[in-house]
Amino acid sequence: MRKPVIAIDGFSSTGKSSISKVIAEKLGLIHMDTGALYRGITYFALQCCKNEKDNIDLQKLISNLNKINLEFREDNGMLVLFLNNTDISSEIRTPEISENVSLIATLPEVREFLLHTQRSIAEKGGIIMDGRDIGSIVLPNADYKFFLTASIDERTKRRHLELLSLGIKTDAASVKENLILRDKTDSERTIAPLIQAKDAILIDNSQLTKKETTQLILSHIKTFNNI
Ligand code: DC
Repeated sequence: MRKPVIAIDGFSSTGKSSISKVIAEKLGLIHMDTGALYRGITYFALQCCKNEKDNIDLQKLISNLNKINLEFREDNGMLVLFLNNTDISSEIRTPEISENVSLIATLPEVREFLLHTQRSIAEKGGIIMDGRDIGSIVLPNADYKFFLTASIDERTKRRHLELLSLGIKTDAASVKENLILRDKTDSERTIAPLIQAKDAILIDNSQLTKKETTQLILSHIKTFNNI
């Protein structure tokens, strides 16, 4: 029986990845957090390509993209991101990465590079992919598309708590500032902007728990092959 292909897009800190992970477990799908790939490239850029002003030299990054091997490996049922054979799954969650990732994600060369990675994993089918342009660009023929949103204050609260749980101390005001800036850069870039695909189901989960959002998404999917 064919398994569904599901696209989950939306704003930062709407729970896309953690909800997708639970749905993947319930439906026996592969889960791919595509934001982790953009974060992985940003991590590489911060290591390889800073100029004398301590900014990322974008041209240098572009000419070094062929040195990047990003892959997800399974470890105890979890997908762990490796960059050139090194586990970088915690390194990509720092505020420094969050501050730079949206700029890196505007580069057409980076998006093209990652499009291949994402589509080749999705070819096997039975996947739930979360990101910003999955329903619109990466998997336009997905069986189900969802677009998640929530109020900025609610998202700030969630992201702040997530960072604290990772042992990263920061204040709510800078978390909010980073989210607003990322929303703007992600939505306004020319190539593959954050957008609700025409056929995506919109879910505002400001007032919903993760569990309730998951149930709502599952209720739309349950008719697929009688899952
Ligand atoms: O989901 P996240 O916050 O980890 O994503 C980090 C950044 O990566 C986000 O600000 C924009 C970019 N991104 C993207 O441009 N396209 C995707 N499909 C996924 C993420």
